[in-house]
Amino acid sequence: MSSQLIIHIRQLFNTREQFHLLKGMELSVLPSIENAYLLVKDGKITAYGPMSDLEKGTGMAKDLSISSSFPGLQTIDATGQFVLPAWCDSHTHIVFAGSREAEFVDKLRGLSYAEINARGGGILHSARKLNEMGEEELFGQAWNRLQELSRLGTGAIEIKSGYGLCVEGELKMLRVIKKLKQRSALSIKATFLGAHAYPPEYREDHQGYIDLIIREMLPVIASEQLADYIDVFCEKGFFSATETETICQAGIRYGLRPKLHVNQLNSIGGIQAGIRLNALSLDHLETLCPEEIRLLAESATASGFHAQGVPQEAIACTLLPTAAFFLRMPFQPARELIDAGCAVALASDYNPGSSPSGNMNLVVAMSCIGMRMLPEEAINAATLNGAYAMGLGSETGSITVGKKANLIFTRPIPSLAFLPYAFGTNLIDKVMIGGEFVTTHH
Ligand code: NIG
Ligand code: FE
Repeated sequence: MSSQLIIHIRQLFNTREQFHLLKGMELSVLPSIENAYLLVKDGKITAYGPMSDLEKGTGMAKDLSISSSFPGLQTIDATGQFVLPAWCDSHTHIVFAGSREAEFVDKLRGLSYAEINARGGGILHSARKLNEMGEEELFGQAWNRLQELSRLGTGAIEIKSGYGLCVEGELKMLRVIKKLKQRSALSIKATFLGAHAYPPEYREDHQGYIDLIIREMLPVIASEQLADYIDVFCEKGFFSATETETICQAGIRYGLRPKLHVNQLNSIGGIQAGIRLNALSLDHLETLCPEEIRLLAESATASGFHAQGVPQEAIACTLLPTAAFFLRMPFQPARELIDAGCAVALASDYNPGSSPSGNMNLVVAMSCIGMRMLPEEAINAATLNGAYAMGLGSETGSITVGKKANLIFTRPIPSLAFLPYAFGTNLIDKVMIGGEFVTTHH
């Protein structure tokens, strides 16, 4: 594979040789190097530092003797450009069969998200469409979305099932995600979300559907290694906290750590359940009370064992501002969460119902504009913490030796804060994923 030496980077962001899930005030510190170089070999970051190190052969450039040791080394001049780690979008539903803009118009006319779901629209509408579509076409649509997202700077992504809601449909979705993993240069994690909604035939028989998930779906998913995590939509009219725990405990027995939809519309005990389950992340969090914020802050610190003797690891709070925006809900209380010491991550929730956009640049801008996150906090939350929130903390999300060369090169901009400030403008010049530039055309 090739090697690239990127020189004269105006400022290189999120440079860290020591890293962990960032919580509270740590989020506001975004380490950087001005007038930097970055060396990429075989798709990975091999060295970086100030240009003066490269010129004098000091620091990480000490034993490099760049030109002789890498025949065919490609030099890339990044004069005037900022370089930052590619976005890590830890919560999406990008495998879906077509859009739902008619429901969007219904909502403009006054129907609520819950009312649309209750009359068989929403998730159930997407499930009907998905079950009618063949695997090839479903893959093609998701592939195109992934290509578009990579051009927008996303280098790692979590993708959920949850529009099948039957054995065949859920397995079809997860097989599509598996194929995306095999063919794409992006880092991808798969989450099984069979418990996204009760399908109509189980409306009055919740236990029947839970049994189907536990007895018919999970064993196949485990034997074909189709998922990394398990998710449940813990919400009024969907899955209760008790049902969430039952389903997740079954998933945990197959090695799937929970990443949960909690407190989007109502607070029904999902956070407490998620903490007991040692979830990797608790996502949405539009509706929070002070006690729940305190519990989340406590769980941001990886330490000790919880009641059942299970090692307790740090839990990321994943906020999805474009979903709150699209549903015209108040934004998540990012400031309160960060000030309380929580480990906040940002994700797009890209799905046809509540966030028909996967643009992480917009997510970052909205988290600053709508939730008063500082640009440094938002970038940490959308890179390193996003990586942690999908179990990719040691592979991507920062400029670190040995991590994947997933990089965003900006157009010339006056300062980092210009990124969220000039929202809606494409400020990305080019994107590198695993050492290769993403092509800008189809
Ligand atoms: O994360 N809240 C549940 N699931 C999705 C919406 C799915 C849909 O409406 O299709 C979400 O917002
Ligand atoms: Fe979601």
